[in-house]
Amino acid sequence: MGGYQRINLECAAGEDLASAVHRGFASSPRSLPCRFLYDELGSRLFEAICATEAYYPTRCERAILAQRASELAERFGGARLIELGSGNSEKTALLLDAWAPPKRYTAIDLDGSVLDRAGQRLVQADPSLTVSAIRADYHTGLTHALAGERGPALILFLGGNIGNFDRAAAAAFLGEIRMRLGPRDGVLVGIDLRKERGRLEEAYDDPVGVTAAFNRNLLARIRRELGGDLDPRGFRHRALYDSQDGVMRLYLESRHDQRAQVGRREYSFAAGERIHTEDAVKYDRGEIEALARGAGLELVEHWLDPEGLYSLNLLGPG
Ligand SMILES: C[S@@+](CC[C@H](N)C(=O)[O-])C[C@H]1O[C@@H](n2cnc3c(N)ncnc32)[C@H](O)[C@@H]1O
Repeated sequence: MGGYQRINLECAAGEDLASAVHRGFASSPRSLPCRFLYDELGSRLFEAICATEAYYPTRCERAILAQRASELAERFGGARLIELGSGNSEKTALLLDAWAPPKRYTAIDLDGSVLDRAGQRLVQADPSLTVSAIRADYHTGLTHALAGERGPALILFLGGNIGNFDRAAAAAFLGEIRMRLGPRDGVLVGIDLRKERGRLEEAYDDPVGVTAAFNRNLLARIRRELGGDLDPRGFRHRALYDSQDGVMRLYLESRHDQRAQVGRREYSFAAGERIHTEDAVKYDRGEIEALARGAGLELVEHWLDPEGLYSLNLLGPG
């Protein structure tokens, strides 16, 4: 008999929101770590982004997973699924449906509310499923999930989350995972591909304005949690693609000269000044091979969706 339970772990490293805001607003150019985009409302807004026509990554990754789920279930029969930054686990359900019992799924995310919603929904749909949720950062959650005696595991890193790391940090992160892999383990990583600017900028600045709301929610969160009078309406969402570096960069841009209080500190923003809130690094096939190599991993499979917009990559310990 399965079930759902959640544990909360102290993050090993990393600042809290207050320190991140004060450091990020004191630096030049200003920036905020993208992990703070995901509070309860942020997670719901991200799910709404995934439902937009413009945001192709979710649709593409779902299509690849639907096509490859039984093949993966055969290869990794009996393995535990461990997901980093699991969000609503909606696409993971495709794998779990194909998995042979015992079905064990460990979901790791910073947002406890999305973990609870996803875990409870999954066990309701399949009472034989055991879902262990860990509210923690990637590193702390994975260390806990892989501690002690264990059987084979397939580690999932979906949704293009790896793009939030710069290229060197992505290789270092995968290298850290590589050091913990057993011979029968695998890593399944969703990686968005380089493509023309128009398609990318529309995906990150959809015509309905959902991505803009998601980005601006970071300012609303700061006000909710730290107090003050920072007004999200005073900033506009910007999504700019740097085609040379292959990076989508998200910003919040001050609409006019303004001063805002955060907690007990005051900051001024000039008209047009930007706060950098997220990067989404894009790859081509060669860069994905180099990424895997740099992490000491073997690129076992490189699957594309029918439109060739997005890739799902199976990496092995080599
Ligand atoms: C872009 S969403 C993707 C969600 C899901 N993987 C998907 O494909 O729909 C990123 C998720 O990773 C979580 N996240 C972001 N940074 C994290 C970190 N450093 N440690 C753990 N979770 C993190 C967020 O809370 C969010 O749920």
